[in-house]
Amino acid sequence: MAADLGSVAAKLAAPGKGLLASDESTGTIGKRLEKAGLPNTEDIRRAYRELYYTTPGMGQYISGVIMFKETLYQSTAAGRRFVDVLADAGIMAGIKVDEGLAPLPGGGDGETYTKGLEGLEAACREYASAGAKFAKWRATLKVTDSLPSDLAVERNAEDLARYAKVCQECGLVPVVEPEILIDGAHSQARFGVVTERVLGATVAALWRHGVALEGCLLKPQMVIPGAEAEGGKVSAGEVARHTVAALRRVVPPAIPGIMFLSGGQTEEEATINLDAINKEARAVGRCPWALSFSFGRALQASVLKLWSSDQTRVTEAQQLALALARVNSEAALGQYSLAAGGHPSTLSGDSLRENFRGWSGQAPAVGPDAAPAVAAPVQPGGGEEVVMAH
Ligand code: 13P
Repeated sequence: MAADLGSVAAKLAAPGKGLLASDESTGTIGKRLEKAGLPNTEDIRRAYRELYYTTPGMGQYISGVIMFKETLYQSTAAGRRFVDVLADAGIMAGIKVDEGLAPLPGGGDGETYTKGLEGLEAACREYASAGAKFAKWRATLKVTDSLPSDLAVERNAEDLARYAKVCQECGLVPVVEPEILIDGAHSQARFGVVTERVLGATVAALWRHGVALEGCLLKPQMVIPGAEAEGGKVSAGEVARHTVAALRRVVPPAIPGIMFLSGGQTEEEATINLDAINKEARAVGRCPWALSFSFGRALQASVLKLWSSDQTRVTEAQQLALALARVNSEAALGQYSLAAGGHPSTLSGDSLRENFRGWSGQAPAVGPDAAPAVAAPVQPGGGEEVVMAH
């Protein structure tokens, strides 16, 4: 392994630091912008990212930001490349390299694989020369009484490992994301069983493919009940107990960091659960990895709501973005305290669940019939995009 990969991965997972997942595809960010009353234009997307990337002090809590292809090549309104602005703030640029989900041939109803392996090496080399230091690939697994199928678990583990190997060969640290979807009525215990099976298969595939574990990060969901589970949500203590137990059983100590996604939890739940996970890990011991965040919605939802109401309120929006990053940094250290002034979320417990995170049945948004809101611009190393890509 290039020594660099290990040091980049360690820096990304440095104590109290996490990732901002701002790599929503044009389609996904478009849905959020439109819900917030904004048009999905390139300049709105650019201005929204600029708000985050130029927030003073962000580098204290955020070690890396994951970008979509379009964003990697964009600049501030004043003409400075985002990658350079971030580097000056001590934040590394990352890039989503998968090309969204597609139905898995032979898989169960709604099961998917992730597109993007073809041409991946050339794309990764291009992204690395544009300044990216790490990459992300999102696979999704659907849970029912009979799913995920063995096929879905194995295919997604295998593809994640192939992606990770290519990234490392191109000098990028892979963030390996097998997201177990929140959709469904499965219990927390079942979620835990599926987590062990999926992460176990993923780690085994990484090993089979010769991926250097010291130079990669995992990005799983926390072990929570399905969104329609009987009995509803569980306490942070229960989330922590199940999550830490599953991780201890399957994640080798060589992997430096486990950077959770927020996956439809509210902003406040994501923070409180992350904090509880760190407290539990400390209490039970033998948890050698950083347990931190790579949140999308849980770092952005309140900010988008504020900024979309008035795009001149940039300073206020940046203060809110920083406050969200700060509480999650505290949580990543197991030092978050509600007593210290409350959570900065302004969404009063609204669920951030979205119904298009897995396969939702739409045809890929490519070709002349694609709706403008989801048609991706052609980018170096890019390909077509599908609607439900992150
Ligand atoms: P959420 O935190 O919104 O789930 O997004 C994280 C992510 O990058 C999913 O791919």
